[in-house]
Amino acid sequence: MPRMTAPDVTAAKGTRKIAMLAAYDFTSARLAEAAGIEVLLVGDSLAMVVLGHDDTLSVTMDEMLHHVRAVARGSQNALVVADMPFLSYQVSVETAVANAGRFLKEGRAGAVKLEGGQAVVPQVRAMTAAGIPVLGHVGLTPQHVAALGGFKVQSKTADAAVALLADAKALAEAGCFAIVLECIPAPVAAAVTRALTVPTIGIGAGPDCDGQVLVFHDVLGLYDRLRPRFVKQFAALGEQAVAALTDYVEAVRSSDFPGPEHSFPMAPQAQAAFAA
Ligand code: KIV
Ligand code: NA
Repeated sequence: MPRMTAPDVTAAKGTRKIAMLAAYDFTSARLAEAAGIEVLLVGDSLAMVVLGHDDTLSVTMDEMLHHVRAVARGSQNALVVADMPFLSYQVSVETAVANAGRFLKEGRAGAVKLEGGQAVVPQVRAMTAAGIPVLGHVGLTPQHVAALGGFKVQSKTADAAVALLADAKALAEAGCFAIVLECIPAPVAAAVTRALTVPTIGIGAGPDCDGQVLVFHDVLGLYDRLRPRFVKQFAALGEQAVAALTDYVEAVRSSDFPGPEHSFPMAPQAQAAFAA
């Protein structure tokens, strides 16, 4: 099976729902792909989930690239989307294209994602013109956390919903191959999904989007520092991990581990000579 491409994602609209996952390393990419994930996002949420920061602002291009490479190595069939970190695209169109290009050239990603509506249309146009597929992202845009005053549901008023629809349309016209809708009322996401010919990928945006995205650690119950309403934990691997690690600690302390099956024997002659 050839690797999924950005045009494949666009073409999937109306034919099937797209399951996307944010994942950050080789092993999680392999697990996700074995489960049939079609789009792997190396999200800047790795700042919080993997690196332990309070928000996504401090992750760098080099840190993102490090993880994008690992995910690209761990996957064969999924489209790998690299999330543009804070200040890697906002300052100028030129640096935006240069940074986005690094994700394809050095990271082996197949597309990039950036946050924002009309404000980033020049960047989207320039990236698209350079041959870099772009995934849009509107609604709750975590890189704006300081300006938004926290991680809050967006587009709750009619005026804000109209503005969001205009932003999404502008991104699609500028060339985005799909658009993430984060943390907005379900009816607003449904209207945006109907209005666009490119797919919408929802997170906290209700059931009517063309696809959904969640974070690996959230789906598996591995991250409990922040648990928004839109997260569904499909397993409690965090609890299972602590139980298994506790067994390990106890086995070491009681000398039950390692057993003979984990140890390397020595030929009797060699052992006798060694002891002599
Ligand atoms: O960084 C991330 O994981 C994201 C998705 C949740 C959309 O941007
Ligand atoms: Na992100």
